[in-house]
Amino acid sequence: MMRQEELPMVAMAAMNDTHLEEMILINKISEAVEQKDEEKVTVLLDALLEHTIEHFSGEEKMMCQKRFPPYPMHKGEHDQALAELRIVVALWKEQHDFASLARYIGETLPQWIVQHIRTMDTATANFLAGGASPCSSGRC
Ligand SMILES: [Fe+2]
Repeated sequence: MMRQEELPMVAMAAMNDTHLEEMILINKISEAVEQKDEEKVTVLLDALLEHTIEHFSGEEKMMCQKRFPPYPMHKGEHDQALAELRIVVALWKEQHDFASLARYIGETLPQWIVQHIRTMDTATANFLAGGASPCSSGRC
């Protein structure tokens, strides 16, 4: 289970809200996995996929509108994570393998989220909120 304190806070409230919603969904999936409730897991995984698509495209739209310079790098991480999530959901639907889903939902995905928020989302939120982008410091 992820705890709210584990989620790094960024400079935009709307992004923090979205991250919290995602964490709550992930914890619900962990619960359903522990309960070995196949049907619930499937419904929640579809919800997570939908939420993630919305979440990433929302950030990408904001970055494009404000011409955030490291946009391609940030989008690259999104694309990779979304591709992985799609594979996990497809494999789940084929195999209903609780153990491998538990590893992804309990370890791989939370670790990715924390790392991504700490780096890409933090820099993006600072820029969008009117602060400095990593490229405005004169170092790049
Ligand atoms: Fe992001």
